[in-house]
Amino acid sequence: MLTKYCFGAHAETGAVTAAVKEGEALPYFSAVKEGTGTRFCCPLGEDDVVFGLGETMRGIDKRGGRYVSFNTDNPHHEDDMPSLYGSHNFFILDGERTFGAFFDTPARIIFEIDYEGSGKIDILAEQGVTVYLVEGENANDIARQFLAAIGRSYLPPLWAFGFGQSRWGYKTEKDVRKIAARYKKAGMPLEYICLDIDYMDRYIDFTVNKKRFPDMKGLVKEMKARGVRLVPIVDAGIKIEPHNPVYEEGVKEGYFCKNLEGKDFQAAVWPGMTHFPDFLQAKAREWFGRQYKFYTDLGFEGFWNDMNEPAIFYSEYNTSRLGDKSCGDPLYKGGARLSDYKSFTHNVDGKMVSHWDVHNIFGAKMTEASSEGLEKLLDKRFLLFSRSSYIGAHRYGGIWTGDNSSTFHMLRRNVTMMPGLNMCGFLFSGADTGGFGGNCSRELLLRWLAFSVFTPLMRDHTTIFTRHQECFRYRGKRDFGSILSLRYRLLPYIYSEFMKAALSSDLYIRPLAFAYPKDARARHIEDELLVGDSLLAAPVLEKGAKGRKVYLPEEMTEVRWNGKEFLTREVPQGERFVTVPLGEVVFYIRKGKCIPVGKGGMNTKEIDLSDVTLLGGGSEYTQYLDDGFTRECSAKNLRVLSK
Ligand code: GLC
Repeated sequence: MLTKYCFGAHAETGAVTAAVKEGEALPYFSAVKEGTGTRFCCPLGEDDVVFGLGETMRGIDKRGGRYVSFNTDNPHHEDDMPSLYGSHNFFILDGERTFGAFFDTPARIIFEIDYEGSGKIDILAEQGVTVYLVEGENANDIARQFLAAIGRSYLPPLWAFGFGQSRWGYKTEKDVRKIAARYKKAGMPLEYICLDIDYMDRYIDFTVNKKRFPDMKGLVKEMKARGVRLVPIVDAGIKIEPHNPVYEEGVKEGYFCKNLEGKDFQAAVWPGMTHFPDFLQAKAREWFGRQYKFYTDLGFEGFWNDMNEPAIFYSEYNTSRLGDKSCGDPLYKGGARLSDYKSFTHNVDGKMVSHWDVHNIFGAKMTEASSEGLEKLLDKRFLLFSRSSYIGAHRYGGIWTGDNSSTFHMLRRNVTMMPGLNMCGFLFSGADTGGFGGNCSRELLLRWLAFSVFTPLMRDHTTIFTRHQECFRYRGKRDFGSILSLRYRLLPYIYSEFMKAALSSDLYIRPLAFAYPKDARARHIEDELLVGDSLLAAPVLEKGAKGRKVYLPEEMTEVRWNGKEFLTREVPQGERFVTVPLGEVVFYIRKGKCIPVGKGGMNTKEIDLSDVTLLGGGSEYTQYLDDGFTRECSAKNLRVLSK
């Protein structure tokens, strides 16, 4: 059951779609006015676990951390990094009292969860906030109720679950052809290649660099015929460029954010000085969404939206690049200066609102704009993922977790972030596999891929400053081929579980604690996850490890994929060391359940979701099955498979 409590006014975020009754007095928390906002406090029991908060650092259990919801472009993902690219203000306290709470506000809000051993949750909402309290039987039930209240997840096409290769630095059509050809030659599957900013003319959205890509339409068609789609990046800022029709129209119609003098605000991003579309205006959203026609006319069906926190390198008010610490605010570690976010405004229903007050929904509104535009432009499902987000954007697209780096610690954080993202609605998500910054070793890439086979978005991406990170660049290609082929073997399960979860307001990835709440050990497990209803993933997360210790809360079927076949055996409840050579993947099927595996293929065009074998001790599996792209998705597409 959800109840809401209002503490001051704020601009509508659009996060909650269900009608929720207003309660009289917020239980569990004390609430005291502080400045323009409210401070909330709730004591924590010794054994309470706090789940959620989506894209935040630290573990699955958020205790011990300070998390500042303030969307930030920052590639330094240390554990004490208070802010990343999204704001996902929902958590579940699981313990003596179990409840969920969503602090809905477009402005900055700070969560201190047993910070420095305080023994309490301390929350400072700096401005108006609506608190949604979710009560239910247990953490899993609470998460499901919350998912139902925020509306159905975005539904990607089947091909979006294939393996994508990306790199900031693919500059020409020759580069693109080479990547596809080398994957093919290496015998490794590949579904799509992402085009980073270099495909554009001087990094200007809705343009193509004609010298580098003389026939983009032809290239998109040619690659698609080979089973490889192309996915262009779209940045938030529109370059100030007289005669560019998008720029001209935006200025003329008043679709850009205004500066303190009421003129169009200027901030530098990749193309140099830009204006930011005022995504909070419905008309501006519609206009921005319409621009994707440029891409759909070229044949593109997938997109990634970037720099939409919005990232600012410097602005008309702060013209020098003074770096991170220049803002003088100890809370902030991002590249932009906080004062920039106080220097422009949005037009919300005719009222000028400071960006500062609505900062956290800017990226989400960009996703909404593109998604609604694409719905009109295309007659089938499309791939869309964004860097910045707020709860509610999950109905319009997925997210990736930004500029991580090539370390085992980042891989671990990819694992611990996934359940929180799911609780906040972002079922379609994943990290830059192999890491964005830094040089990825062969071992790390293999271990990372072996985890990413379970995440809906599976994309290898890296920067222009690092070594090439495509799987075929590394020695021992058979190991890479083995793991990539597992993804395609598992797609009947992954796709079915994702669609079932999305259609029934359920999680696709959850902590063990949600399924085994009475198992004291499972409640605190941070390095194993449940993927869908039947599968337990236990990725190897340590450098140099020959395998890992796995704890199973009940007896299960152990499945070892060795690149050729699935070897299964029954294993008892408890802990054991499992040897996992590089290039192999070991996972588990829960007691009494099974999973469908297919014959695989080099891309989703080649796979047949209906031609499956059931693995595991159970006797039945309910499979979601459709053509992978039509919009109508419902429980009608379920079929029961028996052994
Ligand atoms: C940002 C994105 C990254 C991209 C780069 C260049 O850092 O997060 O994924 O490669 O910009 O566009």
